[in-house]
Amino acid sequence: MQRIPVVGGNWKMHLTRQEARQLTAAIRAALVDLVGVEVILFPPSPWLADVHDALEGSTIQVGAQNVYWEPQGAFTGEVAAPMLRGTVDHVLVGHSERRIVFGESVWETADKMRAVCDAGLTPLLAVGEPMADLRAGRTNDTLRRQLVEGTRGIAAMPPGLIVAYEPVWAIGTGEPATPAAAQERCAFIRSVIADRYGDEAAEAVRIQYGGSVNAQNVASFIDQPDIDGALVGGASLDAEAFAAICRAAR
Ligand code: PGA
Repeated sequence: MQRIPVVGGNWKMHLTRQEARQLTAAIRAALVDLVGVEVILFPPSPWLADVHDALEGSTIQVGAQNVYWEPQGAFTGEVAAPMLRGTVDHVLVGHSERRIVFGESVWETADKMRAVCDAGLTPLLAVGEPMADLRAGRTNDTLRRQLVEGTRGIAAMPPGLIVAYEPVWAIGTGEPATPAAAQERCAFIRSVIADRYGDEAAEAVRIQYGGSVNAQNVASFIDQPDIDGALVGGASLDAEAFAAICRAAR
């Protein structure tokens, strides 16, 4: 099966409204003739509508970086999945910064996954081992747990599901995994999806590598048979670098 490469740009908690608009316009202009690669921008939540409007008529998609699991209610400061409908296509769930900085448990990740699916949006589930797990040889156990517990209660694979493999120690450090190691983990992730949802689902799911991806190293990851794209943090804040990454993913 031919899986279409998919590149995400996770802007995290960066950029003013004006900067977000400028970056969106610059990325749109730089990628105007790009075909064969899906591109998703994940701006901070206050700028989602601006980015959505600035991308009207383009094939570049918009995603939210996080979501709350309840559909509405007295949850000051939170954003519900149904509120995102019409503005975003994708929602990033389980990013390691949510898990580690904000103490999000796998149960909460699963609640968020279900909320995203119930709202008819497409989840991008991020998984990845902290350095301690890597050192202790527990990486695959951690990945399996994050995948299986993170999709608890979801009977069939969510259509269009994307999984991002992001080793925690590679995020924002300038020290990516080696392409061979990333390939091994992504193949393992695909095998867990096969156990969970069957071979057809495993063939269809797109798996990204994330963690210190840049324009120079992205091709070495995308060339791997089980890596279908990249989730990019730091380099996604630079239109030229991000556009180069997207082009290299083709
Ligand atoms: P990085 O972040 O590209 O800055 O390492 C990746 C991510 O957190 O998704």
